[in-house]
Amino acid sequence: MEQIGVLTGGGDCPGLNAVIRAVVRKSVHDNIKVIGIKNGWKGLIDNDTIELDLNSVSGILPKGGTILGTSRTNPYKNKDDVKKVAENYKKLKLDALVAIGGEDTLGAANKLIKENLGLNIVGVPKTIDNDLSATDFTFGFDTAVNIATEAIDRLHTTAESHHRIMVVEVMGRHAGWIAVYSGLASGADVILIPEIPIDLYEVCDVLKKRKARGKGFSIIVVAEGARFKSGQVVTKEEKLDAFGHVRLGGIGEILAEEVEKLTKFETRVTVLGHIQRGGTPSAFDRVLATRFGVKAMDLVMSKKFGYMASLAGNEIVEVQIEKAVGMLKTVDMRLYDLAKIFFG
Ligand code: F6P
Repeated sequence: MEQIGVLTGGGDCPGLNAVIRAVVRKSVHDNIKVIGIKNGWKGLIDNDTIELDLNSVSGILPKGGTILGTSRTNPYKNKDDVKKVAENYKKLKLDALVAIGGEDTLGAANKLIKENLGLNIVGVPKTIDNDLSATDFTFGFDTAVNIATEAIDRLHTTAESHHRIMVVEVMGRHAGWIAVYSGLASGADVILIPEIPIDLYEVCDVLKKRKARGKGFSIIVVAEGARFKSGQVVTKEEKLDAFGHVRLGGIGEILAEEVEKLTKFETRVTVLGHIQRGGTPSAFDRVLATRFGVKAMDLVMSKKFGYMASLAGNEIVEVQIEKAVGMLKTVDMRLYDLAKIFFG
């Protein structure tokens, strides 16, 4: 191993810089040069790179985002791009590539590996959504949950003062992990997730019962991917991204309108949006990301290509990338049932 590349793809999340730092620190320690690929797979298509050394990663541990930039570029959107990726990998004289990403970035990595184009790839799982299979947690999730929890705590006090219903829309795509964790942590009265279609009458019933026992305010946490029993997921626009995803968002507003109509309780909505993805990573995410980065380098050194770092319990283990990208990891219903004990 003389030279490796590292890239961050897909939506950014807190902790990406901690992985980059760990990869570079461990590589320098083992006398390996590191090339940073800019903006995910786009950088490998365009040969847009930057050399990384100890100075480039100094001070980045607490910084959100990614010093390499990111994009949702899918090399499989265009056949020529796959060729360019393979050519540039050779041109750059890379012996291995660390791909840090979620379902999309690692899905592309998996396809590249399967095509036997000579790319030695190891993976690191990231996403605030925590929806990747084959790892108990992805880094970024804990920070997003902490941000959402703090926001809901703040909404609690204003909701109570004004005797209002507060609907809080959180991210998470088609999995309700952020909603369940932040809702549980903040004592939300109702948590609505994509895994279970919303029964509006049930929701209103909970709110009315709370009112009847003297609680004139309530907090509803709704995941952006949640939908009514009778409806579809709510989207911001019809356009799909390069990986075929729609932009979710808007369920909070519709839900607030319906709740107000049916209960006559004054209702407001807050959409947390990208705030959940920005800023400094939590200590948990910094440690997890650092452990993942070091594990990725162990995989590189032992030539375990096609594998990614993963968290199993409190152990960092290795799993095949293919196992992580095949199926979405949705909310464990035992956890949701537990959360339901605290509804109302
Ligand atoms: O996957 C992370 C995520 O933040 C989702 O929770 C959200 O649906 C999506 O990315 C938003 O994507 P974008 O940043 O492209 O608007």
